[in-house]
Amino acid sequence: MAAMPGKRMLRALSGERLDKPPFWLMRQAGRYLPEYREIRSQAGGFLDLCFSPKLACEVTLQPIRRYGMDAAILFSDILIVPHGLGQKVAFKEGEGPVLNPVRSASDLGQLSLDGFHERVAPVYETVSRIAEALPKETTLIGFAGSPWTVATYMAEGGGSKEFVAVKRWAYGDPEGFGQLIDMLVEATISYLSRQVEAGAEVLQLFDSWAGVLPEPGFRRWCIEPTRRIVGALKAKHPGVPIIGFPRGAGTLYAAYAAETGVDAVSLDTAVPVAWAAETLQTTLPVQGNLDPILLVAGGEALDREIDRILNGFSGGPHVFNLGHGVTQTTPPEIVDRLARRLRAGG
Ligand code: CP3
Repeated sequence: MAAMPGKRMLRALSGERLDKPPFWLMRQAGRYLPEYREIRSQAGGFLDLCFSPKLACEVTLQPIRRYGMDAAILFSDILIVPHGLGQKVAFKEGEGPVLNPVRSASDLGQLSLDGFHERVAPVYETVSRIAEALPKETTLIGFAGSPWTVATYMAEGGGSKEFVAVKRWAYGDPEGFGQLIDMLVEATISYLSRQVEAGAEVLQLFDSWAGVLPEPGFRRWCIEPTRRIVGALKAKHPGVPIIGFPRGAGTLYAAYAAETGVDAVSLDTAVPVAWAAETLQTTLPVQGNLDPILLVAGGEALDREIDRILNGFSGGPHVFNLGHGVTQTTPPEIVDRLARRLRAGG
């Protein structure tokens, strides 16, 4: 779908500096909201919620109703892609995701792109429902994990601290690991393309674990696959802005911004505002980078940081957001305080 110039989120992403930057929050739907917990308990498991278009649409809209963000993000998860490829994915209560690990080229035989769309079809239906239900000024963001980050979960079999399994594979058999990355590149292109066809107006690629790779690995496994995904999506849907989030990339944010073709970058909490304004925001819009824990702490510390970020990025296009997702213990009233300030323009 072509960008509609009236929406504030789309204006900022097309490079316009707005006096009052648009805002949304990563993980704006979720367990910190009592109305989410209510729906979540009706749905059964987390994957059941992701695959129920009616309920997933409802939880997508919950934060918009409360806080009036400029963008809604599809309620789903980055691990829907491995599920679509045929990997066993489960979300265990209090434990996070558990996957049946793939750790070598021969394990890839268990995965296949055939039947991918059928396995994830409810997600596309969720996107169309949200597109229909959103207020006309609100932008709909579709998303996927980037291949490297998704591969970390696939090879580790869940979350990780040291990434030994995925790195051993990537370093020891780059050709074989490259086959997994290629499969993820292909799946991600067609998955995101279908989200756009269903009504997503912006796409975000979450590379949450980009920051654990040394420079050559970052170039090969983060920048390169992202460049291929962005290139293919741009050829099909040139009007749809793509935001990249290479969390923890440090000064490599500059190479990522210059080389992947993304329209905007989302900044983690550690990126210095002045550096980003000078190095990144002069060439593309930036999003971020409030510490999500300030939404737990609140008070003056939160107010000071909102001011610092708004002032630091006031010279160019900016989408106000967090440096990572809203955390579970966040009091909804503190999010309200942030939202009131941002809707008022600071
Ligand atoms: O509101 C939104 O931002 C949209 C929904 C969304 C979820 N996950 C819902 C979710 C998005 C965009 C994601 C992305 C995601 N998922 C990432 C990238 C962003 C990041 O946080 O770094 C990653 C790494 C995942 C993988 C994942 N999903 C983990 C590690 C976990 C377990 C940790 C946890 O918070 O429970 C999930 C589960 C998950 N995804 C929940 C939600 C709301 C909690 C599940 C529940 O309700 O029990």
